[in-house]
Amino acid sequence: MITAGIIGGSGYTGGELIRILLHHPAIEIDFVYSTTRAGKPLVSAHADLLGQTELNFTGDVNVNVDIVFLCLGHGNSTKFLQEHPFSANTKIIDLSNDFRLQADANFNGKHFVYGLPELNRTHIENAQYIANPGCFATAIQLALLPLAKAKKINAAVHINAITGSTGAGVSPSATSHFSWRNNNVSWYKPFTHQHLGEINESLTSLQEDTNELFFLPNRGNFTRGILATAYTHFKEPLEVAQELYTQFYWHARFTQVAKEPIHLKQVVNTNQCHIHLHKHENTLLITSAIDNLLKGASGQAVQNMNLMLGLEEDLGLNLKAGVY
Ligand SMILES: NC(=O)c1ccc[n+]([C@@H]2O[C@H](COP(=O)([O-])OP(=O)(O)OC[C@H]3O[C@@H](n4cnc5c(N)ncnc54)[C@H](OP(=O)(O)O)[C@@H]3O)[C@@H](O)[C@H]2O)c1
Repeated sequence: MITAGIIGGSGYTGGELIRILLHHPAIEIDFVYSTTRAGKPLVSAHADLLGQTELNFTGDVNVNVDIVFLCLGHGNSTKFLQEHPFSANTKIIDLSNDFRLQADANFNGKHFVYGLPELNRTHIENAQYIANPGCFATAIQLALLPLAKAKKINAAVHINAITGSTGAGVSPSATSHFSWRNNNVSWYKPFTHQHLGEINESLTSLQEDTNELFFLPNRGNFTRGILATAYTHFKEPLEVAQELYTQFYWHARFTQVAKEPIHLKQVVNTNQCHIHLHKHENTLLITSAIDNLLKGASGQAVQNMNLMLGLEEDLGLNLKAGVY
């Protein structure tokens, strides 16, 4: 068995990783590190794991573990790696944005590969260190990569995306408080969201002169999932766009191009991204839907791990949507 460690295991992405890895046929969870729950059972943070594991959180780190997942907030991964030098053989997957941008990808002699399999599969297969993409960044890139590859982002792109409350992590805040969030919708960080950096780097790697992106993120009153819509000028017939997307995602295990309009529930609790295309006059509307905690975080991290270890890409990831 390959041994895995999880850092930040009492949080949301850490919890999702535990759930996936407990049932992954090639992985044994070696330790789940916590700063606040060392010695307590995992079930103390994740009540749904009752009867599934006897593991406790620990304050000790096995630096010789085969693979480690960092599920920490911005800046904490860098700090954690400085304080805990893992063995040269340990593979690292970081879920924060510490190493996603090219300017941040080299750290202490380690090179972090941007872990979006639909863009970087071969590099991921040969990588030892992965910077896992952001959740909005995943949904938006998957909506736009085929257009960029065909060099057809030739006008501004307007993007509107709505996320569930788990996107903000486990610590309660004013905007995740039930009384505020329930029956409510609001936007935040208009046109300046931090994921624009990684989205732009990926798109310009395919189309150097990619046009400007206007991104409006929204908070939804549901717990998980991201529905993103992007539209831009596109003169050619819808069939041309459909062919571009179908070809681009031909071999993608987890990204599907749907013929019918899509909705969020068809992907929640899965590692899938569903994409739909619609044309109105000279405007192309692209819709994408993911689960922010799975394809947007922990599911994609396990997909990357499978590729790095030479395992089947979907091992442990055949999950069922909660459609009703
Ligand atoms: N939530 C999402 O949908 C999502 C999607 C994509 C990417 N991400 C990224 O993934 C990372 C984790 O997100 P999350 O939603 O799982 O966050 P979270 O729910 O807030 O969990 C983070 C956990 O990290 C631990 N922690 C906090 N400060 C620490 C420190 N200084 N050193 C070590 N551990 C510390 C805490 O656990 P203990 O108290 O047990 O130590 C905390 O529960 C973030 O960078 C986030 O941006 C999140």
